[in-house]
Amino acid sequence: MIKIGNIELPEFPLLLAPMEDVSDPPFRAVCKDNGAHLMYTEFISSEGLIRDAIKSRKKLDIYDYEKPVGIQIFGGDEESLSLAAKIVDATNPDLLDINFGCPVKKVACRGAGAGVLKDVPLMVRLTDAVVRSTSLPVTVKTRLGWDDNTKNIEDVAERLQDVGIQALAIHGRTRTQMYKGEADWTLIAKVKENPRIKIPIFGNGDIDSPQKALEYKNRYGVDGIMIGRAAIGYPWIFNEISHYVKTGEILPSPTVEERVNVCKKHLIKSYEWKGPIVGINEMRRHYTNYLKGMPNIKEYRLKLVTLKEADEIIEVLDEIVDKYKGHEFERSVIELINYHEKCAV
Ligand SMILES: Cc1cc2nc3c(=O)[nH]c(=O)nc-3n(C[C@H](O)[C@H](O)[C@H](O)COP(=O)(O)O)c2cc1C
Repeated sequence: MIKIGNIELPEFPLLLAPMEDVSDPPFRAVCKDNGAHLMYTEFISSEGLIRDAIKSRKKLDIYDYEKPVGIQIFGGDEESLSLAAKIVDATNPDLLDINFGCPVKKVACRGAGAGVLKDVPLMVRLTDAVVRSTSLPVTVKTRLGWDDNTKNIEDVAERLQDVGIQALAIHGRTRTQMYKGEADWTLIAKVKENPRIKIPIFGNGDIDSPQKALEYKNRYGVDGIMIGRAAIGYPWIFNEISHYVKTGEILPSPTVEERVNVCKKHLIKSYEWKGPIVGINEMRRHYTNYLKGMPNIKEYRLKLVTLKEADEIIEVLDEIVDKYKGHEFERSVIELINYHEKCAV
C-alpha cells in the first residue's frame, strides 16, 4: 500500500493528471468510475484565489465521491502561495499539490510553474511556505529540469522532501521540450532509486496502454503512474491498466453502449456543474475523443457540436448506439495528441 499523509492508496496507484480545462469535476467523475485512484484539479492560480476571482474559486469545487482528490495551485511568490494554501485548506481536499511543471510562457516566464526549476532555492522557499501554511499533505508535480543542460530533478527531489513534501510526480520532459519528443523516464527511475528518497515517486509522460504501463512500472520502479492525455475520451484506461498489472490480461474494449453511457454522464455532469450554456459548449471538445474508432462518424459529430439542447444531444448519442451496436473497436494505441499546439498548457 502507498501512503501520502493519511491517504491510503493501493499498491500501484494510478493518478489522473491535473489538466487545465479538462480535469474538472465532470471529467473526474467518469475517471473515478473507471478506476482512477487519486485525482487532481487543474492548476489554480494563487493570485486568482487571493483576488477571489470567480473562475479560480470555482476550480476549488470537489465532491465527496471523488475522494481522495488533490487541489493543485501555482504561483511564484511565497506570500501569495501561502495565502492560497490557507484558502485551499479551508475547502478540505485530501492534499495540496504545487505545480512546478507548467511550461507555457504566461506561467513559466513569470517565475511560476516550470519557471521555478531555474531557481531551486526559490522552489524550496515556496514549497516550505506552503507546507507551513497548511495542515494538508503537500505534494509537488514537476519536470526533469528547465532544459537539456539543467536536468536537476535528483537534487530537487531531495530538497523538496527535506522541506516536507509527501509525494512527487515527475513528468519525464524538460520545460523547453514542452510536449515534444518522448518522455524520458530514466531520471525518474534514478530519483526513485536514491536511498535518501522515502516519499512516493510517481512517473508521468506518454503512458497510453496497459502494456506500456506495466513495462514502465517494471523498468523504472516507480510507486505509481500519473496519466493525462490517454484518459481524455478514454477513462477506461485506469481499470484496464490495473487489471493488466494484476492479471496480465487485456480487458475487452468498451462497447459502443459503454462509450456512449460514459459520454452521457460526462455531459450531464457538465450541464449540472457549469450550467446549460457553458456545460453544453465545453462538452463539444470531448465528443471526438469518445467517438474515436467509429467509421463515418462525421455527420453525427457535426450534430453533437452544433446542437444546443441536452435532450437533442442525448437523442443523437442514442442514434449512435443504434447505428454502431456490435461494432468492434480496434485495440489500437491511444493517440497522444500534442496538446500544447492546440491548448493553453
Ligand atoms: C490539456 C492539458 C492541460 C494540462 N494542464 C496541466 C495543469 O493544469 N497542471 C499540471 O501540472 N499539468 C498539466 N498538464 C500536464 C499533464 O498533467 C501531464 O503532465 C502531461 O500531459 C504528460 O502526461 P501524459 O503524457 O500522460 O499526458 C496538462 C496537460 C494537458 C494535455
